[in-house]
Amino acid sequence: MTDEQKLAACAARVEQVLERWLPQAAAAPGRLHEAMRYAVLGGGKRVRPGLVYFTGEALGVPMERLDGPAAAVELIHAYSLVHDDLPAMDDDDLRRGRPTCHRAYDEATAILVGDALQVLAFEILAADPAMIAEPPLRLETIRLLARASGTAGMAGGQAVDLEAAGHELSVAQLEQMHRLKTGALIHASVMMAAAGAETLAPATRDALDRYGHAIGLAFQVQDDILDVEGETEVLGKRAQADAALQKPNYPAVAGLEGAKARLRELHDEAIAALAPLGPSADPLRWLSGWLTERRH
Ligand code: IPE
Ligand code: IPE
Ligand code: MG
Ligand code: MG
Ligand code: MG
Repeated sequence: MTDEQKLAACAARVEQVLERWLPQAAAAPGRLHEAMRYAVLGGGKRVRPGLVYFTGEALGVPMERLDGPAAAVELIHAYSLVHDDLPAMDDDDLRRGRPTCHRAYDEATAILVGDALQVLAFEILAADPAMIAEPPLRLETIRLLARASGTAGMAGGQAVDLEAAGHELSVAQLEQMHRLKTGALIHASVMMAAAGAETLAPATRDALDRYGHAIGLAFQVQDDILDVEGETEVLGKRAQADAALQKPNYPAVAGLEGAKARLRELHDEAIAALAPLGPSADPLRWLSGWLTERRH
């Protein structure tokens, strides 16, 4: 199986896990449940679950143990997109090639979808019987996702992003914002999988930590490049959205060529970080390249 096929298999796998955990639309409150399923199922690249499974594979962690973390991080991500698209934030109408949650339903429902998806993520991490049983490691998994979702991560980065509208940022400030709003959840995907290993050599842990930080930042740099260069039909979301909101993004702050040079540098950093890991980390190496070359 090629790495690309493997990523597709991970996406199909997490789709089933998510399907299992999400409440049925037939159960009350039906409209909320339907909107939750709309926001999560049948779309998205599933990059974060892919990272969970690929990291687990590199460490020899059984697949079943990774299903909980893979689904949980995707739920937090899906919730962050639902809220990111709200009129009070980026005010977008298109997501994953179809109307955003608040356009398909309504704003109040979209807010509740985010609330409910966020807590479902933690319910899974607390309750999934297939996950690692050792209490300290399971707690560490919960802590990693909580930390990456809150003010030290995604929510904090989104606050910085909102404040930055209409202002100029230095490259360092922009990178800090990107590391929080996007990098943190990507990094957590890698580290949650690592927490599923009973034993982890410190050098391996450090390698994955550095890899997660590098690709986490790279992911938002590429998102910014695509915002400038991409087309709405291919992206499945509005192109040039940052400029429309006067949001500083990487090409605006460092130039398009500067952004692309930084992306290559971060990919090199990610590859270098994995040096202590053997061929079992090849899918992670491939994924870093895939993320920096993606067109949507
Ligand atoms: C988009 O994330 C928002 C960012 C954090 C940059 P993705 O590009 O992973 O979006 P989906 O899940 O594939 O739709
Ligand atoms: C989103 O950044 C980061 C999140 C935490 C959702 P963007 O606002 O650039 O994401 P897109 O471009 O709308 O997907
Ligand atoms: Mg945004
Ligand atoms: Mg947005
Ligand atoms: Mg963007």
